[in-house]
Amino acid sequence: MTIRLFSELHLNVFHIHGIVFQILAFWQSIVNTSKSTRVNIEIRDLNKIYPNGNHALKEVSLEIGNGMFGLLGPNGAGKSSLMRILVTLMKPSKGQVLVNGLDLQKHRREIRQMLGYLPQDFRFFAKLTTWEFLDYSARLAGITQRKARLGAVEQMLEEVGLYEARNRMANKLSGGMKRRLGIAQALIGEPKIIVVDEPTTGLDPEERIRFRNLLSSISEREVIIILSTHIVGDISSTCTDMALLNSGSLAYHGSPDKLIEKARGNVWQISATETEYQEIQEKYPIISSIPAESGWEVQVVARDVNGYAGEQIEPNLEHAYVNFMEHELNQRWHEE
Ligand SMILES: Nc1ncnc2c1ncn2[C@@H]1O[C@H](COP(=O)(O)OP(=O)(O)OP(=O)(O)O)[C@@H](O)[C@H]1O
Ligand SMILES: [Mg+2]
Repeated sequence: MTIRLFSELHLNVFHIHGIVFQILAFWQSIVNTSKSTRVNIEIRDLNKIYPNGNHALKEVSLEIGNGMFGLLGPNGAGKSSLMRILVTLMKPSKGQVLVNGLDLQKHRREIRQMLGYLPQDFRFFAKLTTWEFLDYSARLAGITQRKARLGAVEQMLEEVGLYEARNRMANKLSGGMKRRLGIAQALIGEPKIIVVDEPTTGLDPEERIRFRNLLSSISEREVIIILSTHIVGDISSTCTDMALLNSGSLAYHGSPDKLIEKARGNVWQISATETEYQEIQEKYPIISSIPAESGWEVQVVARDVNGYAGEQIEPNLEHAYVNFMEHELNQRWHEE
């Protein structure tokens, strides 16, 4: 009896010790999550099936570390669905996301504090000036102190080139300016994880470059930036790591350089006559075509271009994307 009691007591002490240890470990992970400089996202076997049966994500597994991560894929590939899950706006049908080891579903509140998000269809209805809107966003991002908020808002408006427009009504700004305000609200408060869905849509070329530079400088601060885009150039110039989604499945994960390497030998520049040009359009995916004196200068992705005056050229990421869709996934490339 005494022995049993002792062993039960011993077990209980052991059990309590275990619980205390677990609580301490959990607390530690929260402290680490908010303070540590490194961030890590682990996506495991993620699936999303919408109520109407659309299977938007299929067994997606990915690990994302610090830096700029590019998400590429044709329309309907599942990019926005994945992003909505990552920012806790939508639950997956199956699978798990861990942020610094914490389960996204179980620790929404802590993880939300680390997030900045620009939705693809960013809109706002409130009647606020540009300044007021960003000030409100800064409050939501947890900058409670008035003076700090004033400084942060001013700096962000400068960074996205909206300082001059600060007293204009936000809903009366031009499309591109609204987009920039959307970018500003995602970046304010120095979030650790920045998720931007098609951020450069509607920006003019100068603004696009400015935005890329802004993201590049932020990515040096040990954050994760996840960027989805149709504009391949946005990824090639900024991202060190990327993924390609196709019909909800992960088709490629790695560096842009490795994807480019796969296209080596498959990109051609052809000097074509008008008649040849018509044939070429039927035969190969065309990357670009420029009228020339005697016909066309056409860039295509093909294993060979027998019968035409073609020479191989150095592939870039755009070529690599088309090459991958065409040759590795056997999906006929079409321009959108
Ligand atoms: N709310 C929804 N209900 C049902 N199906 C949806 C819903 N949202 C998206 N889908 C479907 O899920 C799939 C993935 O859509 P998603 O918007 O994630 O793709 P995307 O890669 O972001 O496309 P795009 O490049 O056009 O923005 C598509 O087939 C789409 O029709
Ligand atoms: Mg989308």
